[in-house]
Amino acid sequence: MKHSVIPVGTEAPDSSALAATAELGLTEFRAIAAIMQEEARIHLVESKVTLVHSRLSRRLREHGLTRFADYVALVRQDPVEREAMVVALTTNHTHFFRENHHFDHLRQAALPLLQGRVRLGRPVRIWSAGCSSGEEVYSIAMCLAGDAQASASWLRNGDVKLLATDIAPHVVEAVSRGHYSASTVEPIPPSYRSRWLRNEGDGHTVVDELRSLVTARVLNLFDAWPMRQKYDVIFCRNVMIYFDDAAKAELEARFVDMLAPGGFLYIGHSERLIGPAAAVMEPVGQTIYVKPGAAQ
Ligand SMILES: C[S@@+](CC[C@H](N)C(=O)[O-])C[C@H]1O[C@@H](n2cnc3c(N)ncnc32)[C@H](O)[C@@H]1O
Repeated sequence: MKHSVIPVGTEAPDSSALAATAELGLTEFRAIAAIMQEEARIHLVESKVTLVHSRLSRRLREHGLTRFADYVALVRQDPVEREAMVVALTTNHTHFFRENHHFDHLRQAALPLLQGRVRLGRPVRIWSAGCSSGEEVYSIAMCLAGDAQASASWLRNGDVKLLATDIAPHVVEAVSRGHYSASTVEPIPPSYRSRWLRNEGDGHTVVDELRSLVTARVLNLFDAWPMRQKYDVIFCRNVMIYFDDAAKAELEARFVDMLAPGGFLYIGHSERLIGPAAAVMEPVGQTIYVKPGAAQ
């Protein structure tokens, strides 16, 4: 498998042009795929060769390399570049209120239960796992807060925390900034937009009251999880599509373990539960599951 060939020209191209047209052979593709599997459990099938080529050409250029074989050798011995490669090969596409039925369910079914916990003085913990640039976790936060100061008062009175994690540091930084372009915020319902965003520079920033609920952290989902408390809600959407079945089953079982009894798990529209999680979790909506047991 050859992705591209170096064009024959009259002038010798500089190294950046060479990197852009470097060939990605099957041997190098497989080496890259093996590293992705080992580092992030991301499963790269051979049809992804064009994507891998285009995402990594810039990395080659930055190192002045003209051959993927040399880049693979670099990645093998340099942990910093290995991390940069993993990040370059993640897909961070997301948007506000993506798969809106999940947010309807959150408002209608989960929210009253979470408010009930706060009334009893109990903590509420929500996790956006594979959060990308934060549109998911802030969509959740807006649903919890409603569209008025009064509807958000339960958040001010309670111990409610939202955790947003991703393997890619640049998107985690974007969550902390909470600043989005005008086109990015378009899917947010106008009543939330006017309440929870303020105009800033050429875009919109999530107000401090909501941002302060969210903690953003870099976390590889296949590493140890530092959280000690159980979670009431976990969103892990459009993340597991990148993993093979063994990795999905392992991760889903860990989510089940991390959920409190009565806790909800939301997964992406094309995903499904497999392995032990499928046997335990009860479906309560389209790609929405509850962990059986009485909430504590
Ligand atoms: C397509 S985005 C999904 C964002 C959001 N959940 C949504 O549905 O809109 C997938 C995210 O998963 C992250 N990701 C992929 N593999 C990961 C891993 N092993 N650990 C943590 N995050 C990972 C990527 O960096 C990316 O930001």
